[in-house]
Amino acid sequence: MTLTQALKKHIKNTKRFGDLAAAAGVVETARRFPVHNPSTGELLAELPDMQASDVALAIDRADAARERWAGLTARERSDILWRWHQLIVDHIDDLAAILTCEMGKPLAEAKSEISHAAAYVRWYAEEANRIYGETIPAPSTDRRLLVIKQPVGVVGAITPWNFPASMVARKIAPALAAGCTIVLKPAQQTPLVAGAMFGLARMAGFPEGVLNLIYASDGDAVGKELCSNPKVRKISFTGSTEVGRLLMRQSSDQIKRISFELGGNAPFIVFDDADIDAAVDGAIQAKFRNGGQTCVSANRIYVQAGVYHLFSERFAERVRRLQVGDGFKPDNAIGPLIDSHALAKIEAHVDDAVKKGATVRCGGRRIGAKGTFFEPTVITNVVGSMRIAQEETFGPLAPIIRFEDPEQVIRKANDTIYGLAAYFYASNLKRVWRVAEALEYGMVGINTGRMSSEAAPFGGIKQSGIGREGSRHGLEDYLEMKYLCMGGL
Ligand code: SIN
Repeated sequence: MTLTQALKKHIKNTKRFGDLAAAAGVVETARRFPVHNPSTGELLAELPDMQASDVALAIDRADAARERWAGLTARERSDILWRWHQLIVDHIDDLAAILTCEMGKPLAEAKSEISHAAAYVRWYAEEANRIYGETIPAPSTDRRLLVIKQPVGVVGAITPWNFPASMVARKIAPALAAGCTIVLKPAQQTPLVAGAMFGLARMAGFPEGVLNLIYASDGDAVGKELCSNPKVRKISFTGSTEVGRLLMRQSSDQIKRISFELGGNAPFIVFDDADIDAAVDGAIQAKFRNGGQTCVSANRIYVQAGVYHLFSERFAERVRRLQVGDGFKPDNAIGPLIDSHALAKIEAHVDDAVKKGATVRCGGRRIGAKGTFFEPTVITNVVGSMRIAQEETFGPLAPIIRFEDPEQVIRKANDTIYGLAAYFYASNLKRVWRVAEALEYGMVGINTGRMSSEAAPFGGIKQSGIGREGSRHGLEDYLEMKYLCMGGL
């Protein structure tokens, strides 16, 4: 079966449960845009290319549905979220196959992403029932002071191509639990799994107008409409820092609330007292999950002099064994890069490093003429002036940098405009606390290479973002606080 046939089969399956596009408010347009499989270049689908005027209509629908949705009880909203969770779990195979077709990641990773997406929906189905207010002891006997929480209103959400299912769930599940309505635009490279999830959401019973999906190739025009339309009260975006800056500027006229998860440049530090096998495992996770295409990917691996050779040897040995290719073949651990620009960037990073004296320990080249595959690569003798030490690569390239002084490596790790994720391996407790507190990042992985969880607050500081997703904090981002002062008592 070709991939296109596989995709058609799976889309047909999910279609049995509701017409994906129409159910989610997608309108037909004369213009269409293509979606390709990055592994093969095959055309997977041609979707309606919605324009700014279609986005305005979707916002009107979301606004019209707002009062009724917010007026339901928490339990009623929670019940619908539970049903959506169950439908996602029931259709994990279909959703994962669609995801692998349009994004390229190995099927096992796609399944794990769908489970992660379902976990966000489950978490917020539970949290919906715990939106508590506050009573405050009043300074005089004739008054009572209270705080209630209310939904922000219509939310404009923009999701990225690297996690096209879990980012949808991570944004809209808390928004729906809080009582907000949504207009969401998925990345143009990976809109199909979002369409399938919206179709399942309609089946779960979300009322007309609560969830609105925008298929569009012109992300700028959609972003501009979402940011300038006064009916949208909040923008939630995951993507590059550059686009985040633009959306922030565009939202500032109306002082909209924003939650942004932006770029990173994660350091991964291995100290002399680390368990080296565990550090190698962690570095493989932190660097090569999703082919290195995550905002929290380890981008700079610092290794202390005493364990530099041992770590580099063992790490390169493991990386040599990682197989690259079509995500549907079970032995492949790494799929394609998303497009030719991503391939060109990783090649430029390798070239620049080699010219400046780095050593390629394994990999270093693109694979084949078709697709956008790149060999998993380890580079040693890396120094701070190389592009790989300064810019986010977003691909399967691991640069290793040697260091002597623990205090100096903390300064180097913090010497960036980004502050999303950092990792380190050490066993001395005093050191663990010193480093965990000194790293200027929103998230720090200590003796682990993976930390994303629906139960924990995901997000960055500095130019890596504003707000948090996941956990009870993720719900607060979709709630307004209202102070009530009752006098004359
Ligand atoms: C990302 O936002 O790129 C990482 C998502 C995750 O690890 O859940």
